[in-house]
Amino acid sequence: MTIAAERKGPRYRHRAAESAPYEKISLDKLTPIIGAEIGGVDLGGPLDNRTLDELHRALAENQVIFFRDQHLTPEQHLGFGRLFGELHVHPAAPHVPGHPELMIIHADKDSWRANGERWHSDVSCDVEPPMGSILYMKTCPPAGGDTLFASMYAAYDALSERMKRYLEGMKALHDGEHVYRGTYANYGIEHKDVYPRAEHPVVRTHPVTGKKALYVNRGFTLRILDIPPDESEGILHYLFDHMENPLFQCRFRWRENSIAFWDNRCVQHRAMWDYWPHTRIGYRVTVRGDKPV
Ligand code: SIN
Repeated sequence: MTIAAERKGPRYRHRAAESAPYEKISLDKLTPIIGAEIGGVDLGGPLDNRTLDELHRALAENQVIFFRDQHLTPEQHLGFGRLFGELHVHPAAPHVPGHPELMIIHADKDSWRANGERWHSDVSCDVEPPMGSILYMKTCPPAGGDTLFASMYAAYDALSERMKRYLEGMKALHDGEHVYRGTYANYGIEHKDVYPRAEHPVVRTHPVTGKKALYVNRGFTLRILDIPPDESEGILHYLFDHMENPLFQCRFRWRENSIAFWDNRCVQHRAMWDYWPHTRIGYRVTVRGDKPV
């Protein structure tokens, strides 16, 4: 068989679900698979129920949504997060004084690390990991500092049927110890005795959409349980490489006062630290989630 004869189209065929029109917000998709920029809404103002319903639907349909030119006080940012659930307090990262739920994302010329440089789903080492994260960017470098987002629905769907069957029922260990210990020492943050760790299904079912998503990530997942260590290493290596295929991704170019709201249950993200020696500062409100099933 020739190479040409073996080609049967793209590696992943995305079938877009039917979507009703939006009436209160505008929506501009970044890719057919993941990401949409939302317009026509001021997140600092009171949001009526229909607008809020449309934002919930836009998040469910696009997995990460973006907003431009938002002018929020810390209280408004926190208040917007609370419309989606109770807020999460990060187990290690620095926060705005007086607001433990407002995490600081900061890198400048003196930093020795920046947040989110490896693909991950936020705090997946928690027993009940966050449902969503709302990052508000206030200082941008002149160029760079983009964030990449990848759809774990698409990554799951694109697996072979044999691989999907193999992964069914498997669990993996997610550990915060190697991620967090010492990581924020330069902010004067003291070590904790223990950091969260949890076992989660390798494939989880989204509680809202009912769709399956891969739920292992380079940042936190140490091993798949109940298989030999070398097999776990091989499978995780394959899955990490697979889920980083650019086919499943969108890339967001920040401007000051932009917001990204991503659903950690079906999205992984990675922040680019390509802007040294410039400064990038944002604030993240994180919404609590359920135990993955
Ligand atoms: C993170 O929340 O992991 C950081 C994302 C970013 O800085 O773009």
